[in-house]
Amino acid sequence: MKLSGKDLLGMKELTAEEIRYILYQAETMKYILTQNAKKTPHLQGKTMVTLFYENSTRTRMSFELASKYMSANSANITASGSSVKKGETLIDTAKTLDAMGTDIIVIRHQMSGAPHLIAKHVNASVINAGDGMNEHPTQALLDLFTMKEKLGTLEGLKVAILGDVAHSRVARSDIYALNKLGSTVTIAGPSTLLPKDIEQIGVTAYTNVEEAIEGADVVMCLRLQKERQQSGLLPSMREYSKFFGLNEKRLALAKKDALVMHPGPVNRGIELNTEVMNLPQSVVNEQVTNGVAVRMAVLNILAKRS
Ligand code: CP
Repeated sequence: MKLSGKDLLGMKELTAEEIRYILYQAETMKYILTQNAKKTPHLQGKTMVTLFYENSTRTRMSFELASKYMSANSANITASGSSVKKGETLIDTAKTLDAMGTDIIVIRHQMSGAPHLIAKHVNASVINAGDGMNEHPTQALLDLFTMKEKLGTLEGLKVAILGDVAHSRVARSDIYALNKLGSTVTIAGPSTLLPKDIEQIGVTAYTNVEEAIEGADVVMCLRLQKERQQSGLLPSMREYSKFFGLNEKRLALAKKDALVMHPGPVNRGIELNTEVMNLPQSVVNEQVTNGVAVRMAVLNILAKRS
């Protein structure tokens, strides 16, 4: 099986079958990660470039490790150290990488739709590593992989997503993907951080965290995106934490041993407290490990097409 397009731009564009295929391939990649010698020839001769216009630890590093584990040539560009600073456009930058024979461009950009735009202008496969407030598809894939690994299935799960949904590309990608694979999604956050039309994409929205968490199999806290907040959206961090932060009392409303997830980076004491983070059912670190496996799977699938 192959993906229908040359790129991975969003979960909105993928079918349920394509998502299942990536998750299935990621299982093999996870097995490779458990070996002492983490080296496979899957991407021998292929070149991956990460082009990041926004900061990242997990996504960029896991793509770099994934490509190295599979024997690809890889390089990294940050906007601050590139000719973007001299005024080169996004499209010209992407075409330049294409002209160098890059097979896969992994891009993170503050503008929604930036990966879609460059994908039209290059032969390389383009992977969206987060575009503005739109999507972060590989984060959703690693989230789904972690849920399936821990709970055995995605079918029939109730997933509660808490916090800054308005600015969260993670939330949007997770919602699209979970709906396609048979999970039910509830969201909760301050009304100023819940998009008015969010229920149209298949979630039930609450401004009361307790209602959203009730009976959940998974409770996912979103990062409060301080860099994207306009003034007036939140009264204060202290109040946010008091009314929307995940603590043990709130978690007790979910199913026993419900998974606690967070895409990272965590603002400790704001989205969730350290006690909850340290519970055995918290899988925040497993999400990071699974991020490498999922990105190996995505790179392998896209590289095979060329
Ligand atoms: N979850 C996530 O995208 O983390 P980074 O910003 O560190 O890549």
